[in-house]
Amino acid sequence: MGKFKDLFVKRHMEFSPFFRWHHWIRFFAINFLIVSGFYISYPFLTPEVDSNPTGFLYAQGRTFHEIAGFVLISMFIGKIYYFFFVKSDREEIRSFKDLFSIKKWMQQIGYYLFIGKHPILSGAYNVIQLFAYIGLYIMLLFLILTGLILYMHDFHNSFLSILNTPLTSLEVMFGGLASVREIHHVLTWGVIIFIIAHVYMSVFNAVYGKEGTIDSIVSGYKWEIPESEK
Ligand code: HEM
Repeated sequence: MGKFKDLFVKRHMEFSPFFRWHHWIRFFAINFLIVSGFYISYPFLTPEVDSNPTGFLYAQGRTFHEIAGFVLISMFIGKIYYFFFVKSDREEIRSFKDLFSIKKWMQQIGYYLFIGKHPILSGAYNVIQLFAYIGLYIMLLFLILTGLILYMHDFHNSFLSILNTPLTSLEVMFGGLASVREIHHVLTWGVIIFIIAHVYMSVFNAVYGKEGTIDSIVSGYKWEIPESEK
């Protein structure tokens, strides 16, 4: 095998098991949150009315929305810890080196306009991708904060009631409960726009970059294209 090894395309581990599990758990949580959230906003299904107290579809929708919300919150906390404190994975944090380089921005735009080569990256993400991910994290943070305020008004004495005082201050800063709900709703559309762009760019990079971009979020591996082939 030894002397033939250069004939094979090499691969390297891009995404660790934690990273991949986190991505897919969050994928299902966010999709469920969008669908159940729109149901809370506009209850398009109503159970048949009868005299028994069983028609709690809306309340169940909200409960499952909240459960998925807490899954998202735990993934968010796990990811923040992983990003800052897990030493074995420095690929993501290294991407920030490129963010302030005008050259990298120009090269990246040139690549997407089919007029230049892909820049050599310092970390896992290109500058445009990183910028979009920062936007996503800001939106998720505000969805979580506004979600927790809405949750607080559902369960006054839940295990999270220790957060009632800071959440109430935040509610006032956001302009009251009606604005909190409005912000939560508008940010949902922000996340939907992100998802559309994210899927489009992943397919673009997989087809045009030929490095196995989409496979890597399942298998963890990306292909290494030799410089001469790029
Ligand atoms: C990607 C994340 C999320 C999305 C896309 C999302 C989406 C939505 C949407 C569209 C609504 C309806 C708002 C309206 O009435 O117009 C809603 C309501 C709600 N969300 Fe979320 N949400 C997310 C995260 C969370 C989180 C983390 C929590 C916290 C547990 C949460 C708790 C709630 C609650 C309690 C309501 C119900 C408000 C009510 O009873 O009127 N959400 N969500």
